[in-house]
Amino acid sequence: MNNQSIIDGLLNDSAFISPKYFYDAVGSRLFELITMMPEYYPTRSEQSVMSAHREAIARALGSVDTLIDLGAGNCHKAGELFSSVQPKNYLAIDISGDFLESALVQMRKAYPDIDMRALSADLTQTITLPEAMRNDRKICFYPGSSIGNFDPDQAVGLLKKFKALADNSIAPQQSNPASAKRGGLLIGVDLVKDDKILHAAYNDELGITAAFNRNMLTHINSLISSDFNLSDWGHDAFFNQALSRIEMHLYARRDLVVTWPGGERHFKSGESIHTENSYKYQIETFMEMLSEAGFSEAEYWTDSQKWFAVFFARI
Ligand code: AVI
Repeated sequence: MNNQSIIDGLLNDSAFISPKYFYDAVGSRLFELITMMPEYYPTRSEQSVMSAHREAIARALGSVDTLIDLGAGNCHKAGELFSSVQPKNYLAIDISGDFLESALVQMRKAYPDIDMRALSADLTQTITLPEAMRNDRKICFYPGSSIGNFDPDQAVGLLKKFKALADNSIAPQQSNPASAKRGGLLIGVDLVKDDKILHAAYNDELGITAAFNRNMLTHINSLISSDFNLSDWGHDAFFNQALSRIEMHLYARRDLVVTWPGGERHFKSGESIHTENSYKYQIETFMEMLSEAGFSEAEYWTDSQKWFAVFFARI
């Protein structure tokens, strides 16, 4: 069914592939490298927010039974929270299961007192939490501005889902709903800034983002047995002002045909496959989205340049 959605995207008038297909084993490692590129400011900016406001963030979060890491990757960001937040349990969720398991092996050694579990899941699908966590006070953690990779409507839908994951007030076993331990969502959001800075972040000199983008085609070849030839495709990323988003595309370097069992798509030279959007928000806009998703209140912290914000939204 998933494979059919890939083919549907390729056959669309404006071809597209979902950005979730970036993250095979190679893609996950390339993404780690992107975060080390001097031009890719979001990771460093978020780290600087988290370290400058560590205590205030821990105070806002309060006592945490379970930290649910949504899109855990190498789990480093959650690890940095552990000393100040000290959750009893850690549930790491990521689409790339193998990558996650190997990250957790290291994490368990570093934090033997925290009970850790891995869940390989796509956040857009239904997520079922382990039964034992039902009555815990839960905080969802969604760093890295991954929320920016969804269109605003979808993003609000996802925020609602995170709220439901953290909310234990509706658990049937809750003997006294009034005393439900309401949790919340800690989320990193990239902010609108100078076009040149945005452009450079998605067009690093070393070409790691280009490799990350093009690697998707290798992944797609392995999934639908297509015959994308990487040398035929170039990387393109630009800021779309009107929609406040970076768009990533792969463009055909010549007229060509891509085939897979039972189908094909002709591409003209210069025609593109849209692979990702990365929305950049104003603080006020994101506050409104949190409230639209049903959170009762939110506070936020930023870095000194106001390039990146971390919000804590309460249920
Ligand atoms: C994961 N996500 C927040 C990254 C972003 O910045 O939108 C993915 C990425 N794409 C290109 N570089 C990084």
